[in-house]
Amino acid sequence: MNGEASAPLFACRDLSLDLGGREILREIGFEIERGEVLGIIGPNGAGKTSLLEILSGRYTPKTGEVFYNGQDINNLPLFARARLGIGRTYQTPVVCEDLTVGETFKAARQAYKPYLTRFDAEYAAALVHFEVDYDTPNSTLKTFERRQLLLANILMKRPKLLLMDEPAAGLINSEIDQIDSILRMLSKEMDIAVVIVEHRIELLDTIADRVIVMDAGEIIAAGLLGEIINSPQVRAAYFEKVD
Ligand SMILES: Nc1ncnc2c1ncn2[C@@H]1O[C@H](COP(=O)(O)OP(=O)(O)OP(=O)(O)O)[C@@H](O)[C@H]1O
Ligand SMILES: [Mg+2]
Repeated sequence: MNGEASAPLFACRDLSLDLGGREILREIGFEIERGEVLGIIGPNGAGKTSLLEILSGRYTPKTGEVFYNGQDINNLPLFARARLGIGRTYQTPVVCEDLTVGETFKAARQAYKPYLTRFDAEYAAALVHFEVDYDTPNSTLKTFERRQLLLANILMKRPKLLLMDEPAAGLINSEIDQIDSILRMLSKEMDIAVVIVEHRIELLDTIADRVIVMDAGEIIAAGLLGEIINSPQVRAAYFEKVD
């Protein structure tokens, strides 16, 4: 791939990773286009979070490459990938407990130059239906509000790609419905590509265009959720291990 107009928005190929002397990922590859939602499922320990760590630039793979708009970004660290338009959310929504909501937005606006405006922050907050007062201490926020705040902080930078690690973890059904509609709007109306690791099949069923199934560091199936979910290999690897 060499940056042609026809290159996918984001791609990786032949990614392998060792941690602590153990093979964690082997020969992982996929592509994602603008506006597409790619779900990643797999049992605990399959390597889903480790894969996101490589894609976002926190881990260096043993082999393989990551491409953004056809350019090899393997050597770019996390912050440089963020500037390019790659946003990342984490399995646990960690906010700075000592700050208020308003201070958190301000810190995000001023993360790097050119600084973003209050309007950018308000726009992003509205996108994720975040309506908490700016003088609210972060320490009092509920899990869903923390996830909304963190997502708003990413969206104000107008990302082209979101890498999301279990955005529905710890949420109740009505909140998951909101995540569903937010992600649908981001992908289908704003053309943002979303790679979403998620255990909740019902959420992926409504929003994912395609799904990858991982087990023990490898991709064991890929395609439409409805087509792969009942394959014996997927059932054995995933459903019979997950409670
Ligand atoms: N820093 C590390 N050093 C050594 N092994 C690690 C490290 N981080 C993760 N692992 C191991 O790598 C494997 C994959 O972990 P990872 O967190 O990527 O899985 P996951 O699919 O995200 O799981 P979960 O569904 O529980 O979030 C696990 O066996 C884990 O114990
Ligand atoms: Mg994980």
